[in-house]
Amino acid sequence: MKPLIIVTRKLPTSVEQRMKELFNVRLNNDDRIFTEADLIAAVKEAHVLVPTVTDKISRDVLAEAGSDLKMIANFGVGVDHIDIVSARNKMITVTNTPGVLTEDTADMAMALMLGITRRMSEGERMLRAEKWKIWSPTGMLGMRLRDKNLGIIGMGRIGRAVAMRAKAFGLNIHYHNRHQLDEGLEKELGATYWQSLDQMITQMNIISLNCPSTPDTRHIMSERRLGLMQKHAYLINTARGDVVDEEALIKTLEENKIAGAGLDVYENEPNVNPRLVALENALLAPHMGSATDEARAAMGEKVLINVKTFLDGHSPRDRVLA
Ligand code: DGY
Repeated sequence: MKPLIIVTRKLPTSVEQRMKELFNVRLNNDDRIFTEADLIAAVKEAHVLVPTVTDKISRDVLAEAGSDLKMIANFGVGVDHIDIVSARNKMITVTNTPGVLTEDTADMAMALMLGITRRMSEGERMLRAEKWKIWSPTGMLGMRLRDKNLGIIGMGRIGRAVAMRAKAFGLNIHYHNRHQLDEGLEKELGATYWQSLDQMITQMNIISLNCPSTPDTRHIMSERRLGLMQKHAYLINTARGDVVDEEALIKTLEENKIAGAGLDVYENEPNVNPRLVALENALLAPHMGSATDEARAAMGEKVLINVKTFLDGHSPRDRVLA
């Protein structure tokens, strides 16, 4: 009997094809979202579960896992939806797909940065509503990026890719991270390290969140820190919804205490607070940072390699440690 791989969502066709060739796999052809009961049924039966960010693999779900479940091969880099400690306690190997969606997520951060500072979606809405009358010397004014200060929170792969791009746009790069980068890398990126996040925030025109969601980074942009931002500053989030206190952000935007926010992620996905949707000074994307053909195919390739390596008796490279 070949080990059973259960995949929770529809994956790119080429990835599914390869999975069928290599494994005994149960695919989700109609892309139905797994309920908690579906996830429990899956962990009871599978040897390997391939979930995505839309599946909450909680302690309760893992408590029901059968003795056959040996691996969770996540399709995605963020693993905040998986209870890693419970998995470790049950000797379940967890892997993710780092490195292959870096460029795409950094592109999305830049798209949001350009989009919100130059009021792209606001302008498009106006045009489509046939409210654009004529070019105006004082209409639709935004903020120029060149020579402004960008503060990146989280200088991992994606943060550095944002810095590279932002540098080309003439932004001054600042960052806060658990560890300071080595001198060579700082020089290459032209990046200034701030040990104090609070102090950095007060000096920035744009803040970009690029840290993973962990208990330490939950609400790292708290109400107090949002209050430290300058009135003309923008917030960009392509990380995870819960790194920002969303309720506090909405209040800050409603009261025009900052200039705007470009968001790709939300605290309660896929539900987006209607107060956020009503705001003109928020540019909202539906969690699509890694949504390119190239990234999704490469993420699938990583899952394939991780599962094959594991089933062949080796330790997969993208193992996530608790
Ligand atoms: C990731 O890979 O973490 C993306 O946000 C999708 O889950």
